[in-house]
Amino acid sequence: MADTDLMDKLVSLAKRRGYVFQSSEIYGGAASVWDYGPLGVELKRNVKEAWWKSMVHERDDIEGLDAAILMHPRVWEASGHVANFTDPLVECLNCHRRFREDTLLSEQGAADAAGLQCPSCGTRGRWTEPRQFNLMFKTFKGPTEDSAEIVYLRPETAQGIYVNFLNVQQSARQKIPFGIAQIGKAFRNEITPGNFTFRTLEFEQMEMQFFVKPGTDGEWFEQWRERRMAWHREVIGLAPERLRYHPHEKLAHYASAAGDVEFFFGGSIGDEGWGEIEGIHNRTDFDLGNHQEWSGKRMEYIDPAAGERYLPYIIETSAGADRVTLAVLANAYREEEVEGETRVVLSIKPSLAPLKTGVFPLVKKDGMPERAGQIHEALRARGIPSFYDESGAIGRRYRRQDEAGTPFGITVDGETMENGTVTVRERDTMTQARIGQDQIEAYLRERIG
Ligand code: GAP
Repeated sequence: MADTDLMDKLVSLAKRRGYVFQSSEIYGGAASVWDYGPLGVELKRNVKEAWWKSMVHERDDIEGLDAAILMHPRVWEASGHVANFTDPLVECLNCHRRFREDTLLSEQGAADAAGLQCPSCGTRGRWTEPRQFNLMFKTFKGPTEDSAEIVYLRPETAQGIYVNFLNVQQSARQKIPFGIAQIGKAFRNEITPGNFTFRTLEFEQMEMQFFVKPGTDGEWFEQWRERRMAWHREVIGLAPERLRYHPHEKLAHYASAAGDVEFFFGGSIGDEGWGEIEGIHNRTDFDLGNHQEWSGKRMEYIDPAAGERYLPYIIETSAGADRVTLAVLANAYREEEVEGETRVVLSIKPSLAPLKTGVFPLVKKDGMPERAGQIHEALRARGIPSFYDESGAIGRRYRRQDEAGTPFGITVDGETMENGTVTVRERDTMTQARIGQDQIEAYLRERIG
């Protein structure tokens, strides 16, 4: 399958199976905004929960936080976003479509706008002068626009962590090194969004800021880089050959080291199909230093044992929940020929799959629907997401769940009614095992993880 086809197929499967819908579709759709359907919301929740478990619940040295989206406007001046969070925007003088000049220059290998061709209408070298366009969405707080103060929808969750650094450190009685983790919405008025949920105007970040003693930052950066790569591989199950770490050649002014975890999506995403799913940065003391200066409040950590006070350095791991979810779908999608038909399968890791099992009566008689219904209810009551389906031929019911990414299928048949055993079918191998009805929960738990 060509890479370009994969994204089209995912968009169509995502809609068909209730993973992702275009926002406001009945009005023609809102560009680059997407809604997660019944299966999509479960998958994304499972991704976020896996991250929270690894970053917060399994560690003593990271605390959770849920800071507000709206913050004091000076936060964004101190952070540098008001002045610098901009993209150079150019408009084609022929068709009036707008693009990011830097993206066009690198895509077309041109030295300046004179050599650029409009990707929309094909006109060459006819552009407005580049204008710096701020990516933050602005709105107003207060009853009327003229008397109100401007507020921004946060473009990253990180600033909510920095301004709460001492609140968390003191209330949780943490000592350096320690981290603060947060999952939340962020908003960016991207000039050229697109590629399904890869680049959107509204998205969710899973960010962790780790505060360390200056001088130990290089070592911590390496540790976090390795841990995060391992998380994508082992916890999320992304194929190692589709994952890479790409160090930044040009560093932002505040960073002393930075790089991206990239996944191979294919098609027009990122650098020849490799798109960033997480950024890892050594942000030095830039953020706490700026907030200290702009707020006039001390942001230093006091180490009573060593009798020292200092501004910690920050190692940031910043992953996109939507991009990781899209990577899970792209990683899982496959088509294969089975008995002369194409079988579409989403081989999502069982721990992340929205539904863990389908439960099917072989036929709609002889007490099988009732027995299957009892199994389904019992699984749900034990916290195992299950789907009951009695409509259509059993093969079609299996195929529907293969496409939905459900890793197991339990079938109640004549033998079940005689001796209490069921068949369990595995999505990826299509192999079937016969087990006792009383063993179903243990069988699934062992494999779901
Ligand atoms: N605090 C650092 C920060 O925000 P970033 O590299 O700009 O760093 C981090 O963003 C992650 O957020 C990216 O790796 C990506 O997964 C996600 N992200 C950024 N912009 C996005 C967008 N427009 N749509 C979807 N996800 C986005």
